[in-house]
Amino acid sequence: MVPSFLLLTQAQQPYRSIFHSRKAPLMNPQRLIQKTVGRGEQNFVSLPKSRLTITVMLDRVKEIYQEIEQFDARSKEELEHFRIRYVGRKGVIAELFEGLKQVPPADRRAVGQELNELKELAQQRLKAYTTALEDQDDEASDAPDLSLPVVPNAYGGAHPLNVVRQQIIRIFSRMGFSVSDGPEIESDWYNFGALNFPDNHPARDMQDTFFIARNPDVLLRTHTSNVQIRLMEHQKPPLRSIMPGRVYRNEAISARAHCLFHQVEGLYVDTNVSFRDLKDTLYHFVKEMFGQDVRIRFRPSFFPFTEPSAEIDISCLICKGEGCNVCKQSGWVEIAGSGMVDPNVLANCGIDPETYTGFAFGMGIERITMLKYQIRDLRLFTENDVRFLKQFQGA
Ligand code: DAH
Repeated sequence: MVPSFLLLTQAQQPYRSIFHSRKAPLMNPQRLIQKTVGRGEQNFVSLPKSRLTITVMLDRVKEIYQEIEQFDARSKEELEHFRIRYVGRKGVIAELFEGLKQVPPADRRAVGQELNELKELAQQRLKAYTTALEDQDDEASDAPDLSLPVVPNAYGGAHPLNVVRQQIIRIFSRMGFSVSDGPEIESDWYNFGALNFPDNHPARDMQDTFFIARNPDVLLRTHTSNVQIRLMEHQKPPLRSIMPGRVYRNEAISARAHCLFHQVEGLYVDTNVSFRDLKDTLYHFVKEMFGQDVRIRFRPSFFPFTEPSAEIDISCLICKGEGCNVCKQSGWVEIAGSGMVDPNVLANCGIDPETYTGFAFGMGIERITMLKYQIRDLRLFTENDVRFLKQFQGA
């Protein structure tokens, strides 16, 4: 709604809408201000103060009216600016209402009416802009921008080694094994010494080691067996834990070997732990992992940290034991090393070998994964070829 005074010509505006008194001269407020303010004190005093206030006020009302009319709030910030300036308690309209007190009582009503109309206009605009901006927001969030390029359907998947690692963890945690972790950069003691590898003994040559420093030796761990030691040092039996992790060996990279691979170590230390427990635990694991039909065998072997020791083979999943080039025609594939924890190792960790016994095992996650998914080349795990990795999405 347009206030009445704005429908009039500029010359008519202020006095027609406000001064009902016939005595009031019709004068353009602009000129009046020029006259009073521009020409100085003399003219100022020559006008009654009340009339000056009314004139200035009405001029201001008109100015603000035009400002509001021209205002276009396109953003929330602009809208807020609008609100503060015109509707706010310290805004320009509120200021005019304040000035109303100086208007002579006879004219106050009329001026007040103009102010009310102005206030109403500001409020209406604020409301309209608010709804418009809200609608705009809704539209922006609902409507898809059809000009944008297609978003590729790039769902990732877990790496096959992680898939299998998680399966291994699940199987063992159902048997009460916790998961432990340890450092990949290790001292000679944790990687070899505490595990009963004698100094200068050929047993150390079993694993080609990457050394970071010599004397004292710092190296990249060659197996996860270091975590056994750290665990036994820090916790007292009963201990039942598996330790998955990365290991490093100075090996030429081929379809069957890599300088970086993954192992899962297992350790169970308590009173009366026997080889029977070891066999039973690993039988159960193998059947859970590869199915009930798979066969398992323990082959005597040697490790410095276990006595007796055994290597664990499973029947070849590819030829079902008939003989193929994966199992080198033997019908069996090796999956883990194992044995009863050597009493020296228990003693090195402050566990009394007279009271406690334990079993341990270690297996390569790559080997298990290759057997499970019939992968022929170990290098595929680290090449990051999406054609390979994609096949495990959802595994
Ligand atoms: N540490 C051995 C390796 O890397 C694997 C192993 C064998 C771990 C027997 C064990 C074990 O805990 O008892 O070849």
